[in-house]
This record gives sequence, structure tokens and C-alpha cells, in this order.
Amino acid sequence: MQINPRTNLKNKLHYKPIGGGVKIAPSLLSADFSSLEKEIKKVERAGADMLHIDIMDGHFVPNLTIGPAVIKSIRRVTALPLDTHLMMENPQYFVKSFVRAGSDMITMHIETIGSAKFKQLARDLKKHNIKIGVSLNPATPLKKIMGVLGEVDFVLVMSVNPGFSGQKFIRGVLPKIRQLRAIFKGNIAVDGGVNDKVAGSLIKAGADILASGSYIFGAKDTKKAIERIRNAR
Ligand code: DX5
Ligand code: ZN
Repeated sequence: MQINPRTNLKNKLHYKPIGGGVKIAPSLLSADFSSLEKEIKKVERAGADMLHIDIMDGHFVPNLTIGPAVIKSIRRVTALPLDTHLMMENPQYFVKSFVRAGSDMITMHIETIGSAKFKQLARDLKKHNIKIGVSLNPATPLKKIMGVLGEVDFVLVMSVNPGFSGQKFIRGVLPKIRQLRAIFKGNIAVDGGVNDKVAGSLIKAGADILASGSYIFGAKDTKKAIERIRNAR
């Protein structure tokens, strides 16, 4: 697989490997897309650890968002790691374009790809220094991802049904996070309805990457909002 050379922005100040402490990933879906660069700089200054970018195909989820071209443009304006969340059927057809566009982390949903294919892709992608995550919907049991846990750097636990920002956090996923924490050493990311009220229970349950869209982008004080979820207990 051919990966284009990355922008050297990545080697500057902001890139932090996943590790040590709770990481906050503002979800760009809640940003003002007419001023994307401004929005990105805003969360960057406010202490975001990475940018969560939602890719929706209108099939796996009932919504459409952006493709690799936009990721490529985002790559040019920020040094933050790009955490690309693929909510699409047949991710194997597109995943490499998202890597070439400059993603640092790629998440595929287990509902969209069999374990065997997932494993094969994950091994291939890792050669290019990409963090690989597997995601599962609120109704998908942990046993579905057991076959790929050994291949991933992180698991993205969905705490809403994917498709839209601004939905209510589903508390029923907390036991799943606890069970996962007991058996999995990588990062546990949570996505959907994350705000200052629920972040404490997520961190206690073992989550260490919190994606958050409407709470962060809707806050008057972005820095405070990020600190509130990072420090919630
Ligand atoms: C949902 C997306 C989430 C969403 C988060 O399908 O994957 O990343 O944008 O937004 P909030 O935090 O508003 O639920
Ligand atoms: Zn997401």
C-alpha cells in the first residue's frame, strides 16, 4: 500500500501518542463547517488531544458527512492527530484513502466488516503507523469484537446509535465499558452524548478517550468544557 508522505506539521508540538491520562477528542460533526479551520483552531487552543472526524455513508447510518478530500484539507491546518470514525458499509474499499488523506487513527465498525477481514486490514494499516480501533454500537455485545481485540490499539464504544450529534447518552453501555476494561489493555474511547455529567462515570468505568461534539462545540467557554470532561470523576 502506498501512503503519501505526511505533512511535517505532525512532527510539531501537538502530536501526543495515545497514553497517559484522559484524552479529549472534539467531534467535528458539531462544528460550523463554513469555518472549519477556525473551529479546529478553537478546540486546539482549548486543549483538545485529537480531532474526532465522523464519516457517514447514508447506508450504515442514516446520515451523510464528508470524505477523504476534506480530511486532506484538515490535515493541512492542524497538527492534532486525526481520529477518523468510519460509519460506513464496506470500509475496506475506502479505508486506505482515509489513511492517505492523513488520518492517524482509524476506527471501523465491527457491524460492517467480518473479523477475518478486519484483522487482515488492521495488520496492513499498522505498517503505516496508524492506530486502529474497532467500534461497536450500543446494541452490539462485546463478544462480537473478541476476535479482533488482539489487533486493535483501541475500542470505540458507541454510547448513542450512530448517525447524529446531540443525542442522549445511553447509560446502559457502562457495564460494557467495565467488562472491556477488565480484559483489554488498549485505550477505550467512548462516543455519543458525552458531557460533563456523564464523563465521570465513563472514566471510572475505564474509558480514557472521550469524543464529544455538541457539548464542546456548544460551550461558551471551550477550554472549560474540555477541562470539565477531562477532570470529571
Ligand atoms: C455519532 C458520532 C459522534 C457524534 C458525537 O454518530 O459518531 O461522534 O458526533 O456528538 P455528541 O457528542 O453531540 O453526541
Ligand atoms: Zn464518532
